[in-house]
Amino acid sequence: MRRVVTLYRSSVGKKVIMAVTGVVWVGFVVAHMVGNLKAFQGAEKIDHYGEFLREMGAPVFGHGQLLWVLRIGLLVTIVVHVLAATQLTLMSWRARPVSYKVAPHMELSYASRTMRWGGVIIGLFVIYHLMHFTVGNVHPDFEPGGVHHNLVVGFRSWPVALVYIVAMGALAVHLYHGVWSMFQTLGINHPKYNRYRRPLAAVLAAAVFVGFVSVPIGVLAGAIQ
Ligand code: HEM
Repeated sequence: MRRVVTLYRSSVGKKVIMAVTGVVWVGFVVAHMVGNLKAFQGAEKIDHYGEFLREMGAPVFGHGQLLWVLRIGLLVTIVVHVLAATQLTLMSWRARPVSYKVAPHMELSYASRTMRWGGVIIGLFVIYHLMHFTVGNVHPDFEPGGVHHNLVVGFRSWPVALVYIVAMGALAVHLYHGVWSMFQTLGINHPKYNRYRRPLAAVLAAAVFVGFVSVPIGVLAGAIQ
């Protein structure tokens, strides 16, 4: 136990925590993006999928129970991810109160600043998104369980669609840097495969971006109605 605490106190330990909790969210984001593509198959398919999410785990779990277990898991991982990120930022500010003016460090500080701002934008997006499509209090005509209806009405407004598209851009950049540094932190490191790490992170980020934005664009273009 003491070893775990000592590891967590170090910056390496915090990076490991960030990488592991990041992997959980990468899994969720990819699954969510693939699930959303059902919107192109019509109302019945995507609404049925929404219902499946509430029914999964039956008969061991009651209606919506397993979904709540997963929601709590996601909430805990995101809280730990943000906490470790905040502590790492404070540690680096304490170690370096005056910012570097030397060129070799510029790229690193640019990447970490992008990650911090990206994280804040994604956090604000997720709060708005839950109010929009899950709680329904910022939706003009929210129907509980009517996933297809909610998507079509929600994205018919182009400013809303634009907010989603910009947020997905921030998510893609965050994923690209995050997946790449996750490979480093978790030591996924082999001279034969190292040159594939950046392209792999880029392909994943691009696929997530294209998959997610296809839904608001599909509604605006009339392909989802
Ligand atoms: C264009 C992009 C997106 C669309 C169209 C979309 C669509 C939706 C919809 C329709 C729901 C409600 C599903 C239901 O009630 O059954 C939902 C829930 C949710 N979405 Fe998204 N989503 C998008 C992006 C994201 C992103 C990037 C994240 C996280 C980084 C995210 C996180 C969530 C979460 C946490 C829920 C709540 C799941 C639950 O607890 O039931 N979404 N999304």
